[in-house]
Amino acid sequence: MLKQLTARKSVAAINREIESGPRLKRVLSARALTSIGLGSMIGSGIFVLTGTVAANHTGAAVTLAFLVAAIGCGLAAICYAELASMIPVAGSAYSYTYATLGEAVAWFVGWNLSLEYMMSAATVAVGWSGYVVNLLEEFGIHLPAQLTNAPVGKTASHTLQTTGAIVNLPAVLIVVVLTWLCYVGIRQSARLNNWMVVIKVAIIILFILVGLAFIDTANWKPYMPANTGEFGHFGWSGVMQGAAIIFFAYIGFDTAATTAQEAHNPQRDVPRGILAALAISTVLYIAMAAVMTGMVSFEKLNVSAPVAVALDEHPELFWLGLPVKIGAIVGMTSVILMSILGQPRIFLAMSRDGLLPPQMQKVHPRYMTPSVATVITGLLAAFFAGVFPIDVLGELVSIGILLAFTAVCLGVLVLRRTQPDVPRPFRVPFAPVTATAGVLLCLALTLALPHDTWIRLAIWSAIGFAIYFGYGYWNSKLRLQAAAG
Ligand code: ALA
Repeated sequence: MLKQLTARKSVAAINREIESGPRLKRVLSARALTSIGLGSMIGSGIFVLTGTVAANHTGAAVTLAFLVAAIGCGLAAICYAELASMIPVAGSAYSYTYATLGEAVAWFVGWNLSLEYMMSAATVAVGWSGYVVNLLEEFGIHLPAQLTNAPVGKTASHTLQTTGAIVNLPAVLIVVVLTWLCYVGIRQSARLNNWMVVIKVAIIILFILVGLAFIDTANWKPYMPANTGEFGHFGWSGVMQGAAIIFFAYIGFDTAATTAQEAHNPQRDVPRGILAALAISTVLYIAMAAVMTGMVSFEKLNVSAPVAVALDEHPELFWLGLPVKIGAIVGMTSVILMSILGQPRIFLAMSRDGLLPPQMQKVHPRYMTPSVATVITGLLAAFFAGVFPIDVLGELVSIGILLAFTAVCLGVLVLRRTQPDVPRPFRVPFAPVTATAGVLLCLALTLALPHDTWIRLAIWSAIGFAIYFGYGYWNSKLRLQAAAG
């Protein structure tokens, strides 16, 4: 049993599968890859979580939390770049882990990647709902609170309780509509993505430039409010916990890594695209968070549309309200769409390895999309979006990704030892130090997350391993090949 749990797929076998699989068109330049990264990254992290993190964990030091998260993400990103250049395959971190740490850890990582895609689609949909409800209210349309809020909420002591609401209907609807688009075969053209990115980035820059004049530096004092006595509530532990949660804002850079097979020159351009997207978003995020917390006291930002609150504080900025809200909504729409498109790719890779049922590979005869995997993704994402509040979802997503990143950084260390001769078009500089720092920082951030997030992760993982031992363990292609061979 131990042998199977630790069985690894060789890098050569994975690359042979790519060679024999369908060929993809190499059309993406470094700029297009950067744009894909920014398209999948800029969404509810900056437009929603900035407010809740500042209000509950960091105060104005939310900017520091963005910086810490960017460093953790940067270390993981260069490790991703090395593995993506060695093993350019759709399963991304799941496939890298299968080659390095074995089947059981790969399953764990793949299962957690579904937090990245499916759960973050749900999380961003909740953020989207907050902005849409706020926008409709501006036009005098008031939706009943019972239909626009999560029926489950978090108490001050971090336990879950019912809120009296029925369902977050707008969040469910956007997931359903975008799933339908994915189902009938929407193609993420680089051009359309570029436009979405231009709109998002332009509006963020506009907000920063205009907002600068409305900063009251008194709102930044104290920069880091003293810890309340509870871990994670302000002070340094608040910054660490805030960084772990705000990590969410950077999720998506690896979407560019999964398109390695579609890049003109993946060895050169995937690392460039990833690092450029990270650098640009880090600067934008920190500047925007600084302006937001300067325009309004952080205590008022514990809402689902914090940018709107910052603008409402300054009536003369009423003209900026509409563009900013539309920018946020456009941005989040593209993030949700990409997440729903990304998840079936992971399911496909896992199904090809026999760890999920073969139906997951079913392609719609007319639309040529992975129809079953897309519908399952949509149904689950819609359920989570309709029922849970944004902070619970965001924390769960962050912990899942942080563990996946930890595995990717570990993967670099393992492959350097076990397969030193496989060509590495991109190499992590000072690998032992950099990758180890990545492992430690990602783990430190997971430890900083609220205790109850670990309990939810344990439940999520238990469900995952029940599925693995009920199905994947017995149907693993690697197992069947070993048995036959
Ligand atoms: N990084 C993405 C967002 O913040 C998931 O919406």
